[in-house]
Amino acid sequence: MTEQNLVLLGPPGSGKGTQGERLQEDLRLPYYATGDILRAAVRDETELGRTAKEYMDRGDLVPDEVIVGVIAERIASPEAADGFILDGFPRTTPQAEALDAKLDELGRAVTAVLLIDVSDDEVVRRLGGRRTCAENGHVFHVEFNPPEREGVCDIDGSELVIRDDDEPEVIRKRLETYHEKTEPLVDYYDHRSVLRRIAGTAEPDQVADEISRTLATLKLQEDEAL
Ligand code: AP5
Repeated sequence: MTEQNLVLLGPPGSGKGTQGERLQEDLRLPYYATGDILRAAVRDETELGRTAKEYMDRGDLVPDEVIVGVIAERIASPEAADGFILDGFPRTTPQAEALDAKLDELGRAVTAVLLIDVSDDEVVRRLGGRRTCAENGHVFHVEFNPPEREGVCDIDGSELVIRDDDEPEVIRKRLETYHEKTEPLVDYYDHRSVLRRIAGTAEPDQVADEISRTLATLKLQEDEAL
C-alpha cells in the first residue's frame, strides 16, 4: 500500500483512542486525535482552547471552522506524507467534505474508515470507569484495563484523572450529538466504499486483531488491483 490515510470512526467510548495508540505503534504513522489536541489547548489556555472549552464541557462539538484548519495543517505536513491516523475527525458532514477537499488538493484520498461499533449501554459502562493520564492522554479503565498502580499511568507515571466530559449527563449529551451529527458519516463513507465495520465489543486485543486483519485484506485487494 503506497499510503494509508486512515480514519477511526465511532461513538464516544467505542475505543478509538485505545486502538489509535496501538495502530500508531504498529503502522508508525502520525496519529491525530482532535479530542487530545483540544484538551491540550484547553490545558495550555491557548485561543483554540478558550474557544473549545465551553463546547467540550457541554458535550457539544466545537464549530467546524475551528477544527478543520487544525487538521488540514497536520495532514499537509511532511510527517504525514506516507499517511496518517485520524481519531475524532471528521465528526460532521462538512468536516468530511473539508477533509476530502484538502486531500484532493494534495492528490490523495481517505483509504479506509474503521467504524468501531458499540451500543450506547456499553458506552455508558466504559466512560463511567475510564481513567485518563493527565499529561499525555493514555487511556485506562478501572475494570477492563486497570493500571498496575491505582491512579498512576503505566506509560509515563502521570496522575490518572476522570475527564470533565465523563460525567453522566455529559456522556448522554455526547451520545446524542454522535447520533445526530456524526452517525451520518457511516453512509457518507459507505457510499465511497471505504467503510469497514469493526466489532468494538470484543476485548481490546481482539479488536486490534480485527483491525489488523481488515487492513491486511485491504492491502491484498489493492495489490491485486495493480
Ligand atoms: P474525543 O476526545 O474525541 O472524545 P470521543 O469521541 O467522545 O471519544 P472518547 O475519547 O470519549 O472515547 P474513545 O472512542 O477514544 O474510547 P477510549 O479508547 O478512550 O472528543 C472530546 C470532545 O472534543 C468532543 O465531545 C467535542 O466537544 C470535541 N471534539 C473532538 N473532535 C472534534 C471534532 N472533529 N469536531 C468538533 N468537536 C470535536 O475507550 C473508552 C474506555 O473504554 C476506556 O476506559 C478504555 O480503557 C475502555 N475500552 C476501550 N476498548 C475497550 C474494549 N474493547 N473493551 C472494554 N473496554 C474498553
